[in-house]
Amino acid sequence: MTEAGHHPEVERAGLVANERVAEGVGLAVFDAPRTASAIRPGQFVHLRIAEGAEFILRRPFSVYRAPAGRLEILYQVVGRGTRALAQATPGAVMDLIGPLGHGWLVPEGTAHALVVAGGLGAAPMGMLVEELARRGVATTLAQGAPSEGRLLARELFEATCRRTEVATDDGSAGLCGFVTELTDGLIAADRPDIVYVCGPEPMQRIVAAQAAAAGVPCQVSLERLMACGVGACLSCVVSTVSGRKRACVDGPVFDAAEVVWDPCEDPEAGA
Ligand SMILES: Cc1cc2nc3c(=O)[nH]c(=O)nc-3n(C[C@H](O)[C@H](O)[C@H](O)COP(=O)(O)OP(=O)(O)OC[C@H]3O[C@@H](n4cnc5c(N)ncnc54)[C@H](O)[C@@H]3O)c2cc1C
Ligand code: FES
Repeated sequence: MTEAGHHPEVERAGLVANERVAEGVGLAVFDAPRTASAIRPGQFVHLRIAEGAEFILRRPFSVYRAPAGRLEILYQVVGRGTRALAQATPGAVMDLIGPLGHGWLVPEGTAHALVVAGGLGAAPMGMLVEELARRGVATTLAQGAPSEGRLLARELFEATCRRTEVATDDGSAGLCGFVTELTDGLIAADRPDIVYVCGPEPMQRIVAAQAAAAGVPCQVSLERLMACGVGACLSCVVSTVSGRKRACVDGPVFDAAEVVWDPCEDPEAGA
């Protein structure tokens, strides 16, 4: 059972729109009323993109937004499954399992949050910033991307967050550099009650260290290869201070202080 008390179930979801929103990135909108009404920010769905042997393994996707019985998924085309998703047209029906996993937690009394999104890390932040706004939490957003055109979900972030700061690798918008060069100053100046991070793991690790140094709680959303999505296959293991956990059922959102980061990851790689 999920944190919201809803059992994940299979739902037949009708694709109602599927548009390119940036280079190599699409936004798919599904009619999926049961999952949309149950899903919480940071949870994900496991999508069977098409029939046939190569699609037997479902692909996990965060839910970007879930308005009025619909599920919006922001996806990057990286391989066979996401290529097939990009080619799907309205009217297609796919089955999905959801809601899955543990999402973002907003502790009682949170007044100010810093949300940090790198690249596709914007995907699980849509529902989160909406939830923070509903609760009256003043939210600062720090976003990083290769270039201005790859800064996803900007309209939503600008409409919902009190302040937004961006960094791009090529300097086409905001700071020329990594988003981690913004977050240190934002944590020190703004003193948020909590930091939420999603993006490339080296970036998450750096922001987690910055938050820890400032004594601010931090949650991270970790991506792992997932086969079953329901805790049975152990393909999605995350090392934590209390042992090995499964990203699909114990995460994908973890308290950053619990995570034992992969020593092979180079935090200097940034995001
Ligand atoms: C909890 C969770 C939420 C996610 N949310 C999103 C999202 O909102 N938007 C989005 O675009 N992507 C998201 N992903 C990643 C997405 O699941 C993969 O990109 C997708 O499964 C790739 O499928 P494919 O068939 O196109 O690629 P494949 O042909 O299977 O693989 C292509 C490349 O992608 C890598 N890859 C495959 N599956 C995963 C995976 N599960 N995690 C990480 N890398 C993978 C492979 O190692 C390979 O390098 C999420 C992953 C997880 C675990
Ligand atoms: S994906 Fe099978 S245990 Fe997590």
